[in-house]
Amino acid sequence: MSGHSTYEPTTGFGNWLEKRLPIVRLVHDTAVSYPTPRNLNGLWTFGGILAMMLVVQIVTGIVLAMHYASSSALAFGSVEAIMRDVNWGWLIRYLHANGASMFFVAVYMHIFRGMYYGSYKEPRELLWILGVLIFLLMMAAGFMGYVLPWGQMSFWGATVITNFFTALPIVGQPIQTLLIGGFAVDNATLNRFFSLHYLVPFLIVGVVILHIWALHVVGQNNPLGIDVKSEKDTVPFTPYATSKDLLFMVLFMIVYAWFVFYQPNFLGHPDNYIEANPLATPAHIVPEWYFLPFYAILRAITFDIGPINSKLGGVIAMFGSIAVLAFLPWLDTSKVRSGRFRPLFRLFFWVFIVAAVFLGYLGSQPAEGNAVLYAQLCTAYYFAFFLIILPALGFVEKPKPLPASIIEDVLAKSAH
Ligand code: HEM
Repeated sequence: MSGHSTYEPTTGFGNWLEKRLPIVRLVHDTAVSYPTPRNLNGLWTFGGILAMMLVVQIVTGIVLAMHYASSSALAFGSVEAIMRDVNWGWLIRYLHANGASMFFVAVYMHIFRGMYYGSYKEPRELLWILGVLIFLLMMAAGFMGYVLPWGQMSFWGATVITNFFTALPIVGQPIQTLLIGGFAVDNATLNRFFSLHYLVPFLIVGVVILHIWALHVVGQNNPLGIDVKSEKDTVPFTPYATSKDLLFMVLFMIVYAWFVFYQPNFLGHPDNYIEANPLATPAHIVPEWYFLPFYAILRAITFDIGPINSKLGGVIAMFGSIAVLAFLPWLDTSKVRSGRFRPLFRLFFWVFIVAAVFLGYLGSQPAEGNAVLYAQLCTAYYFAFFLIILPALGFVEKPKPLPASIIEDVLAKSAH
């Protein structure tokens, strides 16, 4: 897909380097001459936005770590000191805290884009699975990061979530003890979470490199979901994709900046400004917004299923709801990639989005009364979508006719 390289060194130094380490060629082939489908829409800019946010999180995180103290006696105070005493500390912290949320906004857009246009389908299965791995690592980083300010939600969130490991038979208790470094969330937990929170983003960088490598081997999908057939279907990455990416990055930054400067605590929980207190449980323990749909799925299993008690059932459902994504390339049996040509898929897809958003809302509510029933219905739909609807649709749906090529479709559109 990437084709043969068009890079020619033009300077003496360029020639010298080329023979020893052809890194300029690598950059040129990936970011300049790389053939990009000419019909990509704005949803294809989220990969670049994600890469940008990863850098923002690492840079702001490194500066925060210079002032943060990962001891249960000092952590809360050190974060307050960052906010009040460190030069620009408030900005760095708000950029990092809201940056995590924006990172998840971008990743959800990226994932839903992939689902809608069938980007996970052959030959992009591995690219997609690497993405699911990145998503898991992002969740681990987000969860551990939220514990670090050592507020009430940090402490109780960590207590609730790590407690779920005890639902696993035999290995559960030892895993939980290992994870939190004792029998309750305490100083040891904070230390290991800080260490891992620092490490995981670099693991993400590693997997992102593989992700982009895999992308460049098979080439990008596009809104039509048909393969690139000739050079006319593509444009060089620079300046076309680069300038579009830049535009959307700026728009994204404006929203990000609005949160940072006008609503920096909107996405957080007020209880996290109260120092962790193991003796006072908050009325409602809620995770960050980006975990809420999964939290709702966890709590939707209120009944035992044969030998599996409700607690273990909830944990299995929660992990299962993410694991099922990895099998998506094989669960979707349709030959057509893009939702644009799949009328039935489109309908079920949008119901899926509504169910996922509603699950998010339900995750923020106390698990009682009708909220439990709604969460169970949405959870049932969530799994049915992947395990029943998508496999069946490939057989029953009649897709609309596909255009002959990307260029033909582009020209037909620009003709009127
Ligand atoms: C730090 C997180 C991530 C980064 C930096 C990243 C980066 C990128 C970039 C730069 C692209 C090409 C541009 C684009 O299509 O938007 C891309 C494509 C893609 N990514 Fe990601 N990604 C991330 C997470 C994920 C996740 C979580 C998934 C899925 C679970 C995923 C699945 C895909 C797929 C299927 C494509 C190919 C899309 C297509 O060509 O239609 N990525 N990614």
